[in-house]
Amino acid sequence: MALLRVDNMTHYFEGLRAVHNYNLILEPGHIVGLIGPNGAGKTTIFNLISGIHTPTEGNIELDGHNLIGHQPHKIASMGLGRTFQNLLLWRHMTVLEHVKMACYSQLEYGVLDAFFGTRRCHREEKRITSKAMHLLETFNVAQFSSQLAVSLPYGAQRRLEMARAMATNPKVLLLDEPTAGMTPDELNRMITIIRKVHQDFDVTIFMIEHRLKFVMDLCERIQTLVFGEVIAEGTPDEIKNNPDVIEAYLGKEDVT
Ligand SMILES: Nc1ncnc2c1ncn2[C@@H]1O[C@H](COP(=O)(O)OP(=O)(O)O)[C@@H](O)[C@H]1O
Ligand SMILES: [Mg+2]
Repeated sequence: MALLRVDNMTHYFEGLRAVHNYNLILEPGHIVGLIGPNGAGKTTIFNLISGIHTPTEGNIELDGHNLIGHQPHKIASMGLGRTFQNLLLWRHMTVLEHVKMACYSQLEYGVLDAFFGTRRCHREEKRITSKAMHLLETFNVAQFSSQLAVSLPYGAQRRLEMARAMATNPKVLLLDEPTAGMTPDELNRMITIIRKVHQDFDVTIFMIEHRLKFVMDLCERIQTLVFGEVIAEGTPDEIKNNPDVIEAYLGKEDVT
């Protein structure tokens, strides 16, 4: 069974059709990529899956559960983690606090309330700090743990955002342009980290990415989106050699 399944999804923004008849079957354990020119509708697909927008038409299921009509935090608690194309970090929060806060969001409010002032609260706090530190180590940002997140180099901020997304133990992780703005060094490090996270955390990954070498290295399947429609889906080799993809997209892209 598919872990994440999207059927016939269409979305309009005030008359503008951003996504048309989109389908996805994401098998457990896979890494799948979504490529396409700017404005093709890639981020909109992520926003629809994660509950930021409700699709005009279509169905979305995560592990057999319907996602349509649920709020983003509920969808996150059902097992969907994501990062954003534009980083969303808090100005006054340290690196460690960012990840701990995401861990806390997993606790039910009533449970959290009951913990305050109790020994159990203390134990839970310790457990969360150690889980957060483990995530920071995995994403190679532990050395910055007590610094303000906004003071980090750009590549490290991106890695922190991924650590935060993993704090809720997602089954599926959506990455929106994880290498945007990175130097070639940071990019290679990111490939290694994504492979490690995929293995160690047993998480299924769906990523939007501009750098084709990066997607082709990491993904077993790739969808190509143009004007809100998937024009091709297949293995990296099939996509690289597909004449429609070359015509619509690859010819214009920097393939480094
Ligand atoms: N919140 C929104 N309101 C209105 N139009 C939007 C909104 N978000 C995206 N769009 C439009 O939808 C289209 C697809 O955008 P987007 O999904 O961001 O593309 P991509 O991520 O592929 O670059 C664009 O024409 C964009 O202007
Ligand atoms: Mg986008």
